[in-house]
Amino acid sequence: MKVLVTGGAGYIGSHTVVLLIEAGHEVVVFDNFCNASKESIRRVEKIVNQKITVVEGDIRSREELQKVFDVHTIDAVIHFAGLKAVGESVEKPFIYYDNNVHGSTVLFEVMAKNACKSIIFSSSATVYGDPHTTPILENFPTSATNPYGRSKLMVEEILRDVYVSDSEWKIVLLRYFNPVGAHKSGTIGEDPNGIPNNLMPFIAQTAVGKREYLSVFGDDYDTPDGTGVRDYIHVVDLADAHVKAVEKISNFNEVMTINLGTGKGYSVLEMVKAFEKASGRRVPYKIAPRRAGDIATCFADPSYAKEILGWVATRGVDEMCEDGWRWQMSNPMGYKS
Ligand code: NAD
Ligand code: UD1
Repeated sequence: MKVLVTGGAGYIGSHTVVLLIEAGHEVVVFDNFCNASKESIRRVEKIVNQKITVVEGDIRSREELQKVFDVHTIDAVIHFAGLKAVGESVEKPFIYYDNNVHGSTVLFEVMAKNACKSIIFSSSATVYGDPHTTPILENFPTSATNPYGRSKLMVEEILRDVYVSDSEWKIVLLRYFNPVGAHKSGTIGEDPNGIPNNLMPFIAQTAVGKREYLSVFGDDYDTPDGTGVRDYIHVVDLADAHVKAVEKISNFNEVMTINLGTGKGYSVLEMVKAFEKASGRRVPYKIAPRRAGDIATCFADPSYAKEILGWVATRGVDEMCEDGWRWQMSNPMGYKS
């Protein structure tokens, strides 16, 4: 299939491009590089040993998107492009709604105009808010506490409306839990701007000596060791789910909402231990106050993904940490290294 990958130069997008090409699909990457480096594309080209078709453009531009459809017959779109920093979304809501919501509607409109009606959308476990229980099933109530999360919920709703208006659409909403790790080669991985907000890149930068210590946000949660519990999923497993979704999408006759997680939760301190084991380095930490908006426990029931996509996550936390460490060690300054 010929797949348009918006945000294909980013963290999850670049890993997905590798797996799509390895599975024999053709790929067109569309990215404005607002949070990605062109170096990631060069590294992907090295892994797959072929040139990648890349269009530099913004999903908010009908003209730039139309140019892609003028040249390529696209069978399906995987839509990663968007902004993802929760704190920034609280400070700059307009930018988030413009990029994530308006940008998405422009994309869907251009797709419809070009009779391309198959889309896989990057949603997030953040849409479950503070779940009443775990593991989390797809039919749990949704809510959002910040503009980032609300933008994901809005796009999900927009896509449901699109389907109501035209049932020829094939729509898959993938709700990711906590993507971590990197490609085995150690050449592509997560390259956060400035101080990382998320746990794994912060741990990795502490292990490599770039940060003095990790602040553990709260040790008084109702969890086995008091620290927050999350469902960490290897980015290559996540990428693999996208390939399976693309290959199955023509069979779907309703909007599919699918959790992508492992079904297992690990605490902050367990992740610190796993990373220390993988890296052979110490990760100094201090207990700090809870981070506003955090919840105690979040992990998926991934059985629907198994049933519908034939997908299960196969990589455990040791592999997540080993691969994340290899990327960090080989690229201490990310793609600028
Ligand atoms: P990322 O920032 O690495 O990748 C996003 C890519 O989109 C970047 O390459 C960026 O340059 C591009 N982009 C942003 N706005 C654009 C625009 N207007 N036009 C064209 N390109 C644009 O992020 P990621 O971690 O790879 O996440 C991919 C998607 O998955 C995002 O939509 C994100 O919200 C979602 N998601 C990520 C996580 C996570 O923890 N990484 C969790 C849940 C959901
Ligand atoms: C974050 C986002 C969420 C997004 C998800 C997936 C926030 C508030 N939420 O969730 O919207 O969908 O990533 O990528 O940013 N922790 C520390 N110290 C740190 C960093 C994190 O103790 O320096 C703890 C957190 O309190 C949490 C766990 O580590 O218990 C994981 O945090 P993080 O990686 O930021 O992911 P989420 O909070 O699950």
